[in-house]
Amino acid sequence: MAEDLTIITGTGKEEQYQSLIPQIKGLLTGEDDQIANLANVAAALKEQFNWFWVGFYLVKNEELVLGPFQGPVACTRIKKGKGVCGASWEREETIVVPDVDQFPGHIACASASKSEIVLPLFHKGKVIGVLDVDSEHLAHFDEIDALYLRQIITLLND
Ligand code: SME
Repeated sequence: MAEDLTIITGTGKEEQYQSLIPQIKGLLTGEDDQIANLANVAAALKEQFNWFWVGFYLVKNEELVLGPFQGPVACTRIKKGKGVCGASWEREETIVVPDVDQFPGHIACASASKSEIVLPLFHKGKVIGVLDVDSEHLAHFDEIDALYLRQIITLLND
């Protein structure tokens, strides 16, 4: 079955998210395997936005463990409260970091990464993982990304 995405260019990021979200909904429909769905969400985001790194860490035995992602190899385990990912898990909130060098405890998996957004994934009120997106540009993410990425990860619970 063909699963090609329609990628739009030359528009603002809101339009790009609005084009992508129904397509992601389609990709997730009828599939309940978590790894398959996380992998396709990471791939779809990478295809549309070509971010430096996009992927998931999943809570396993009180640690975040690397899950499906697109981009360069990354750190495999992150403790609660550590780095941006561990902080997002601990605080149970989305964290937007315009300049990773200014975030105390930031974990540099790749020196090319300059800014970052991390959103917690919830299931039954508990954090079960995080979505992490890294950019090689400073201040690449804002409230628009937070809003639409939240919508995308909410689709994973449907
Ligand atoms: N920078 C993250 C670690 C994960 S990588 O960026 C893929 C952090 O500080 O939690």
